[in-house]
Amino acid sequence: MAVPSLLTSASAVAAAAVLYVSADAMANRRANVIKTGWTDASMRVNVGVTTHVVADRQLHAARRKLLNHAFSEGALKNLEKFVLANIREWCGYMAEPKENGEKDLQWGKERDMAQWSTNLAFDVLGDLCFGKSFNAMKQGSSYIQKLIMSSSVFQMTIAYLPIREFIFPLTKPSILFVLGNETIKQKVKYRQDIGAMVQDRFAVENSNSGKSDHDQRKDFFHYLLHAKNPETGETFKPIDLVGEAALLVAAGADTSSTAMSACFFYLVRNPRVLRKLQGEVRATFDDVEEIKWGAKLTGLPYLRGCIDEALRMSPPVPGLLDRRVLPGGMLIDGHNIPAGTVVGAPTYTVQHNEQYYPRPFEFLPERWVEGSEPSVTGFEVTPERVSMAKSAFHAFSSGPRNCVGKNMAYMEMLITMARTMWLFDIRLKEGDRSGEGGPELGPGRERAGEYQLTDWFISERHGPVLEFKKREVF
Ligand code: HEM
Repeated sequence: MAVPSLLTSASAVAAAAVLYVSADAMANRRANVIKTGWTDASMRVNVGVTTHVVADRQLHAARRKLLNHAFSEGALKNLEKFVLANIREWCGYMAEPKENGEKDLQWGKERDMAQWSTNLAFDVLGDLCFGKSFNAMKQGSSYIQKLIMSSSVFQMTIAYLPIREFIFPLTKPSILFVLGNETIKQKVKYRQDIGAMVQDRFAVENSNSGKSDHDQRKDFFHYLLHAKNPETGETFKPIDLVGEAALLVAAGADTSSTAMSACFFYLVRNPRVLRKLQGEVRATFDDVEEIKWGAKLTGLPYLRGCIDEALRMSPPVPGLLDRRVLPGGMLIDGHNIPAGTVVGAPTYTVQHNEQYYPRPFEFLPERWVEGSEPSVTGFEVTPERVSMAKSAFHAFSSGPRNCVGKNMAYMEMLITMARTMWLFDIRLKEGDRSGEGGPELGPGRERAGEYQLTDWFISERHGPVLEFKKREVF
């Protein structure tokens, strides 16, 4: 099967043919395109560049080689204990009892999953990137979350303005600071905070040398610090190291948390799916501490199906991953596209194409599991059907600029969802409708059963508000 490309003219997006575009502008590093849009705005308004936004393809390749060190299988094994510690803490918060006097005391406190999934993701990344929790779980939220969202909204807003070239010079941090811009003030605070955390983290790294391999702290910071290009001997400069660590927080927090809150949204609205998922997890593990990164967990087809279905229906980066065609033009889908044209197709659109995903607005984890009952899906889930679904799945993008954190994201999502299913029964707070669509929200947002995202490159979203009850384990 041809690998689908996201690149095409906007008018052709709905046509099935777009998924067979042979021009591999996403998958081929030599394709005659360059990143643009939100990432370009990010380069122009921020100090310093990171792997994610750098447009130059050679520079990106060199940076990405270094970044890959932090995401190898070996690195993930060492990162797991930090992820697990945060997930345990998170489950503790989900188990917190209601206040005396409230009704239904066997169910715990109400938890807004948009907020709490984000709290978890931020604390994991604080721990991994800077050696310290951001304390989002303890405080119930974090100013860094608001900062990242407001920066993303700002960049998205100016990225597509026709007069953006006039605006970029006015967005210099010094000018905005003088004007009292709140986001810039928070950015300054963030820089100061991570500056202090990095100092402490360097001290830990220095003390590593006297410790056995097993006792050394091996987190993202460690891997980035020691990353070396074997061919060139290149390493991250200290300033870039801090920038890259901050990038990982921005790239990894809202994305994973959108996926988890979406998954919770769909599970509580689909009791059949919820029961089946609980059944799979509870029958596989005898104890919650058995739920770790490994073959037993990654081999659970329905758990993975639920997560991939949430990522399909509500992709955390839902919009255009746009590319600008370079001088010389490019042939896309049989069309000669001239230099300067911006091309792309939104991931949300691609992942709702009926040819690849029959009944595209229904939460059907079975579509990812070969041999699932046609009575549930309404179609045969043949191996070809599953591979077609996989071929159009672009939640993590594809090619050389795809998500470097994909495996780390699956680690966090699989462990969190599985542990939650093992430990708790869950239900929607009575009357909660947060995150739902409705006719009052306008065309395209009318489906009550669809988790609503606002595309600011990353996604703004609300709810669902859930309650948790500790399961009796005999
Ligand atoms: C469900 C979770 C996630 C989703 C859906 C996701 C999605 C994506 C997408 C679509 C891109 C491409 C963006 C573009 O073309 O501009 C991307 C890039 C990236 N992601 Fe993720 N991401 C997730 C989790 C993570 C995590 C946990 C991390 C790190 C801790 C991470 C780090 C990155 C980085 C560094 C890039 C830039 C890679 C490059 O340009 O070479 N992501 N991600």
